Amino acid sequence: MSDRTQKRRSLRASRIPVLRAGLLGLSVALLLALPASGLAKSESAKKDQLEVFSWWTGGGEAHGLQALIKIWNQQHKSVPFKNETVAGGAGSNAKAVLAQRLASHKPPDSFQGHAGAELLDYIKAGQLEPIDSVYKKYGLNKVFPQQLIKQITYKGHLYSVPVNIHRANILWYNPAVLKKAGITGAPKSWSEFISDLKKAKAAKVIPLSLAEQWTEKHLLETTMIATIGPANWAALWKKGGNWSSPGVKTALNRYKELLTYTNSDAASLTWQDASKLVADGKAAFNIMGDWADGYFRVDLKKKPNKGYGWAAVPGTSGVYDWLSDSFTLPKGAPHRAAAVQWLGFLGSKKAQDTFNPLKGSIPARKDANPKLYDTYLKWALTQWKSDKLAGSLTHGVVASNAWNTDIDTALGLFLQNKDVSKFQSALSTAAKKRAG
Ligand code: GAL
Repeated sequence: MSDRTQKRRSLRASRIPVLRAGLLGLSVALLLALPASGLAKSESAKKDQLEVFSWWTGGGEAHGLQALIKIWNQQHKSVPFKNETVAGGAGSNAKAVLAQRLASHKPPDSFQGHAGAELLDYIKAGQLEPIDSVYKKYGLNKVFPQQLIKQITYKGHLYSVPVNIHRANILWYNPAVLKKAGITGAPKSWSEFISDLKKAKAAKVIPLSLAEQWTEKHLLETTMIATIGPANWAALWKKGGNWSSPGVKTALNRYKELLTYTNSDAASLTWQDASKLVADGKAAFNIMGDWADGYFRVDLKKKPNKGYGWAAVPGTSGVYDWLSDSFTLPKGAPHRAAAVQWLGFLGSKKAQDTFNPLKGSIPARKDANPKLYDTYLKWALTQWKSDKLAGSLTHGVVASNAWNTDIDTALGLFLQNKDVSKFQSALSTAAKKRAG
């Protein structure tokens, strides 16, 4: 029993006889009873456990986390894992819930935050503890690639432990549907892509399945990278980035055209629904991050290259539109010591090689065992070593939450009015306001 628990128990024990004696009358008894019940409440909040906040609830998301929880609970019997997930892909609901918790000083012990600009938001708001000592204690200083370390460091201090690398620019497809529609393999160029979408339409399947708004931003992001290339993409997120360029205009026009090949009920679907349309042979293509590999393979039990196929989004071969899920130590974490252990565990080879083969991501650590990874992930592991990098917009690398919100608003309007020049100028205005 911890010292703290012992103290609380003796405190309560010392109150019980006072109440039982009834010497002080009902009002006094009530007065004493109130703090006692308050104590019981805070005691449950402080109960030894590990509260971890994420948005990994659904298909393709939960299995990796569940596997980690199992190991954690076996190794920390007195500090059980409390899974505080909030459903909704890309953290579409979770981030708002988290913001409220942090604002009211009720942080979990650790929460999911993307490496890059998203993490910086939390750091700048003073919500995170630096965790250099965790890196030192668990020998993590040299295990992650330098470009990733840069994205989780602020003013010389480390702020999170990255658990994976995901790739956003993947075109998933159903090989049987392609064959039936007369499409010979995944398209490589944009013009091939459009002509394949036409063939799929003629074959009476959904050419490109799409879901709720964050997936529409995901599609926009990959279309932009395919059109302007990774260097111009990176420049857009710096001060003075040229959002009025002809390249951006071409990308937005391509995006507008792509939308004409998508399902009309997109807004009411989750990313899993849109992926399933491909798996079920109702859609030919879907553009999604590689968590879809986890979903196809682990949840839907589809065989790589048979039940589902993949390629880089046309025009992005050799480019890794990357993002990384990382975990943090919030200031005021109710079970700080457990949180430190959790972060150390997440950084371990064992945790990363357990989580990622299920999640559909490659490990953030450089020393993973490639044998543990399935067909798609083996491919991703080699691509990651040689590809040029482009940071994800939708998944927190290049733009703050506030900038993302401005883009969401502009995109929401565009999805209604389909006015490319208004959209481009709204994006430009957002950049002027937020870059820097
Ligand atoms: C991303 C996250 C991934 C995956 C995806 C879909 O933002 O980094 O791990 O969960 O959302 O929800």
